[in-house]
Amino acid sequence: MSLAACRACVFDAYGTLFDVNSPAQREMAVLGDRAVALAQLWRQKQLEYTWLRSLMGRHADFWQVTGDGLDYALATLGITDGALRERLMQLYLTLDAYPDVAGCLEKLRAGGRATAILTNGSPRTIDAAVAHSGLGPLLDQVLSVEAVGIFKPHRSVYQLAVDRLGVEASRICFVSTNSWDALGAADFGFQVVWMDRFGRQPDRLPGKPVAVIKGLAELPPLLG
Ligand code: LAC
Repeated sequence: MSLAACRACVFDAYGTLFDVNSPAQREMAVLGDRAVALAQLWRQKQLEYTWLRSLMGRHADFWQVTGDGLDYALATLGITDGALRERLMQLYLTLDAYPDVAGCLEKLRAGGRATAILTNGSPRTIDAAVAHSGLGPLLDQVLSVEAVGIFKPHRSVYQLAVDRLGVEASRICFVSTNSWDALGAADFGFQVVWMDRFGRQPDRLPGKPVAVIKGLAELPPLLG
């Protein structure tokens, strides 16, 4: 099976369609030169907590682990401003979409393909980001891991997309900026495009993407 044979394109949300650094950037006036460190540590701990909770069998939704990750990052940087914490959490509900997202989704749908999000985000969190970005009309489905109660890269999460879209795995194109997610999805059986927006090393894990791109403008031509 090839990318051209794919009937649906499924996207990771955070870091792929939505800029998870935008809350810290919008609080630059308060954070100053701590903004980059805060954003990085927040994201790192948020993801670690998803994996660790999955291993522990102690699922909590993405809003909870996002708050826990933020608390860890703020404490590490010695920041005790409770109002700032609340503003950063609220900003997570109105993340900026990357500028190449809408045009890509429009082209994919014009080519007759279904489009969907498959995300760790809880329905409340992802629905808010989608509504804020105005991308809703360009998406056929928005799927949250809450339906299976475990985080990526557990195989049951990727199976959710197969079940809900009614498309076999080998005819689903999955796109993620997160290398570990791309590899997990490839190992599951999707046709995976790793979007290396940030010039990162690929993770050393099972799974192999069929293509690597730098931005979403490159995706529709790949599918033909
Ligand atoms: C998501 C995280 C992994 O949207 O970025 O699922």
